[in-house]
Amino acid sequence: MTEHGAHPVDPATARHWDDLYHQRDRVWSGRVNAVLAEVVDPLPPGTALDLGCGEGGDAIWLADRGWRVTAVDVSTTALGRLTAEATRAGVASRITVARHDLTRSLPPGRYDLVSAQFLQSPLELPRHVVLRAAARAVAPGGRLLVVEHGAPPPWARDSHPHAHFASPEEILAALDLDADGWHTERLEAANRTGNGPDGETGVLVDHVVLVRRGHDGH
Ligand SMILES: C[S@@+](CC[C@H](N)C(=O)[O-])C[C@H]1O[C@@H](n2cnc3c(N)ncnc32)[C@H](O)[C@@H]1O
Repeated sequence: MTEHGAHPVDPATARHWDDLYHQRDRVWSGRVNAVLAEVVDPLPPGTALDLGCGEGGDAIWLADRGWRVTAVDVSTTALGRLTAEATRAGVASRITVARHDLTRSLPPGRYDLVSAQFLQSPLELPRHVVLRAAARAVAPGGRLLVVEHGAPPPWARDSHPHAHFASPEEILAALDLDADGWHTERLEAANRTGNGPDGETGVLVDHVVLVRRGHDGH
């Protein structure tokens, strides 16, 4: 279940995320992300690459539906939690866990679904590098789904005055796709109701990009 071999990681990035995960026994809800569930629902199971998988809510949900998932994160703490939860859920045999700093490497291969859910960071993250590598990892006929926060959550303590939330169009442009080889299936801002860390309820804005590689894509 664990990919063999160590890959280079930026120590400051790994430390930042491991520290964050150490602050709580569980940081994320453990539930699948809503847009991912919506997109995957009509699809037959295949292979999936979950980039910045965190504690594995998406990877475990996908594996439970028959997908073979490669789940990638820079945090060993997050990956350890994912492994424990996948074992409890009885889906560990369908998940390969791989530690990569996505700005430096991705697991090899091509996948029917590549998913990047909220792969956002307060640290320097050259997103175009990661997004372009993510697009290259999509198999012919496969899909890339990118979902990002479009605005700070209503319960955010600092107002992030200088934070830039890329629009769906900016995310699509960062992918730098060959227009002939790809079809854009979703490009939108979507609202959903979510809960904050102290149980608050509020409206969250997701920026969604779903693209499909043509069957004769290279
Ligand atoms: C905001 S969390 C999202 C987690 C999960 N996708 C979700 O939706 O719940 C971002 C995740 O990306 C990971 N991450 C951040 N920078 C990374 C990098 N350079 N390489 C690999 N993973 C990274 C973090 O460790 C964290 O688990």
